[in-house]
Amino acid sequence: MADITTDVLIIGTGPAGGATAALLSSYGIENMAVNRYRWLANTPRAHITNQRTMEVLRDLGRDVEAEAYMHATGQDLMGENVFCESLAGEELGRMKSWGTHPLSRAEHQLTSPTHMNDLPQTFMEPLLFKTACSRGTQARLSTEYLRHEQDAEGVTTTCLDRLTGQEITIRSKYLVGADGGNSRVAEGCGLPFEGQMGVDGSMNILFRADLSKYVAHRPSVLYWVMQPGADVGGIGMGLVRMVRPWNEWLIVWGYDISGPPPQVDQALATKIARQLVGDPELEIELISASTWTVNNMYATELRDRRVFIMGDAAHRHPPSNGLGSNTSIQDAFNLSWKLAAVLKGEAGEALLESYSAERAPVAKQIVTRANKSITEFGPIFEALGMGGGGTTEEMQANMDARAEATDAAEEQREKLRRAIAAKHYEFDAHGVEMNHRYRSRAVASDGTEEPAFRQDPELHFEPTSWPGARLPHAWLFDETGEKHSTLDLCGHGQWTLLTGIGGEPWVAAAEALAAEMGLPLTAHVIGPRRAWLDHTGDWARAREVSDSGCILVRPDHHVAWRSTGLPEAPQDDLRRALGQVLAL
Ligand code: FDA
Repeated sequence: MADITTDVLIIGTGPAGGATAALLSSYGIENMAVNRYRWLANTPRAHITNQRTMEVLRDLGRDVEAEAYMHATGQDLMGENVFCESLAGEELGRMKSWGTHPLSRAEHQLTSPTHMNDLPQTFMEPLLFKTACSRGTQARLSTEYLRHEQDAEGVTTTCLDRLTGQEITIRSKYLVGADGGNSRVAEGCGLPFEGQMGVDGSMNILFRADLSKYVAHRPSVLYWVMQPGADVGGIGMGLVRMVRPWNEWLIVWGYDISGPPPQVDQALATKIARQLVGDPELEIELISASTWTVNNMYATELRDRRVFIMGDAAHRHPPSNGLGSNTSIQDAFNLSWKLAAVLKGEAGEALLESYSAERAPVAKQIVTRANKSITEFGPIFEALGMGGGGTTEEMQANMDARAEATDAAEEQREKLRRAIAAKHYEFDAHGVEMNHRYRSRAVASDGTEEPAFRQDPELHFEPTSWPGARLPHAWLFDETGEKHSTLDLCGHGQWTLLTGIGGEPWVAAAEALAAEMGLPLTAHVIGPRRAWLDHTGDWARAREVSDSGCILVRPDHHVAWRSTGLPEAPQDDLRRALGQVLAL
């Protein structure tokens, strides 16, 4: 007999676990979240928060979204990605990043009702945790997962209550392993992984110092320091990262993984900070220091019957591209509605197969991208003449040569410009962040081919209503003139059907099936003199179906199915699509 019972037990209250708990509680599902520590993240770690993640927070509530923006550093202060010899020293180059280039900014604005921002993990975790607990999550801190066993009806998990030293058992219908990069849940399931852990070593040095005079005129999240002769390793150079503008900072500095991790004390932290800032008199207030390893590993299967893994438990990679916590929260958005639908009896258990089918390819994609981004610093080092070894003096001479009035120097300058511009695959990769198109049994084909990308799919987001893609965003207007995103009409744990004038039979079909199947399914008609007005025509241009067609949207904003026009028996077609997607 277990000590505690719940429907879903979540191990971990990081971005993945916190988001899962918040979403399940919002959907009315009983859940418990445990964390081995007595509180949440104590260092800022993840920070770049992309539009897709903000759409998840917006789905949790406009109050949750607003609070994230309130704590975040806004996009306008994020974009001047600087490469320099030190903060006080010579600037080597710069690139607009994180959607702040005017062309990129336009794409961001057209893509989503939300904005990218910089929200340190020390703010994101409490926001998700508060949302979860205030909506029903039972949270147990200082509670460590030890092991689990599963049978046909559920999972029995043994945890250690670290306050009493006693073991407790928790019986749940499902178990979610959101327990980070050293996931014991994933290990306990024996899930298959590809790649390698511990490819390099890095240290984080968190400190306070007012660096306004070096940075306020070129506001950025990241300042990359490349110094000849510097003791590089880890992510390849020194990084000075803004945590709070402009007096709280995090330095990321490599160490040799073949040796033991260094002990970072006040003296070593000050030495490194002085070197990277380029101010030999700089005094810092050290907040904390920690070491971590660069990993290159992802799970190829995220489910073992009643147990699921997500977040860093499933994808382990360096911070490049800022994909860690974003992908973790998006994993949660994918799994939570599916668990809710199965637990409420709205869907068959086989729906849960689609979690791994849809998110394992994303895990592989982001781990690969983040590690490739590290290697893409190579051409910058080469262009500076720092790539081929040599003494500190030789490297400095190579760097200095680029300022000469020679053909070779002109070529070197061009090489450096090109190498820096190519880093938009790390610092402005909107497609990587937004272009997820799912293929699984939770998507019903409409018989059309996947539309080809017209631009580089890593750099540019291309909206489509092709089943499996995220619903395109367009602003619609209600009768008062207030604007609402198409995404705002969807989500919140509900199914949505969007149609236009002449599509009223779809509305009748949706209402009949909602009643018949006990499904939270709402239909909306968009068009003149209807509830939702498409004044700008943006929705008509984006939707890829006719007025009398329809788009069926899952609770996670992804298109489940669509019909380009009105068939003879819309209710039969819709029933078939829902039946397939919900595994009924
Ligand atoms: P996360 O690791 O955040 O959370 C795991 C949770 O599980 C925690 O609550 C933990 O206490 C709990 N847990 C673990 N084992 C448990 C057990 N046995 N029992 C109970 N609870 C258990 N990313 C980025 O974009 N930029 C960055 O600069 C950094 N820097 C960075 C530094 C360090 C030191 C780390 C560890 C990580 C980063 N990251 C990062 C990565 C980023 O923080 C990461 O992608 C997300 O936190 C992943 O979120 P998860 O919720 O999956 O795991």
